[in-house]
Amino acid sequence: MAAYNSAGEPSAAWTGRLAPDDWASEGGTVTVRTLREMRGLFRRNFEEMQQADLSEDTVIYRVWRLRGDEEQHIPEISVTSIEPGEVGGELFMTHGHRHPSNRGETYMCLRGNGGILVRDRSHIRWYPMREGDVVQLPAAWAHRSVNTGYRPFVFSGHYSAPFTVSYDEILNAGMGAAVMHVAGDLYEVRTNEGALLAHGRR
Ligand code: F6R
Ligand code: MN
Repeated sequence: MAAYNSAGEPSAAWTGRLAPDDWASEGGTVTVRTLREMRGLFRRNFEEMQQADLSEDTVIYRVWRLRGDEEQHIPEISVTSIEPGEVGGELFMTHGHRHPSNRGETYMCLRGNGGILVRDRSHIRWYPMREGDVVQLPAAWAHRSVNTGYRPFVFSGHYSAPFTVSYDEILNAGMGAAVMHVAGDLYEVRTNEGALLAHGRR
């Protein structure tokens, strides 16, 4: 984005608008992730899920992104809405990724209840989030967001442009832990080895 047009006048700002209730947007792009695109990420085997009553077309989350600009240091903004639900007890979540660049990220919860699972080498942590909570993530931390509630979990993410991510690492190695609905209103965050990292109410 050039700050000035060819006549030397300030150019127009980029603007966008998102209505998260009906997911109507102006500007930016919207990406929809269904269960089909989450193959291999939930603990439960994909073939078992197909036999259960979850359709491959079930929407797990939507992401709206408004571009930023590297040269002008305008950060990019995204808003993600994860639907409530579970797959074999594992609560609906994003794919998860790490940023290969040295750029961290700020997350802010806009509505609903959820959290961020982060991993840096063998260190795994869980940050629960409700409306108004902010979590700032260093660049090295892989992160995945999870809806622990009964309504959509909506949060914004703010990071330097351009958006560069590595998804393969999570697809191959996972996050090292899962967020499971256990009984009633309770959820637990357990490592792949079975250690209890955190628990909470949905
Ligand atoms: C950007 C960021 C979020 C996620 C979004 C979807 O760095 O962390 O905007 O991209 O919540 O998650 P993924 O990208 O894992 O599908
Ligand atoms: Mn990110």
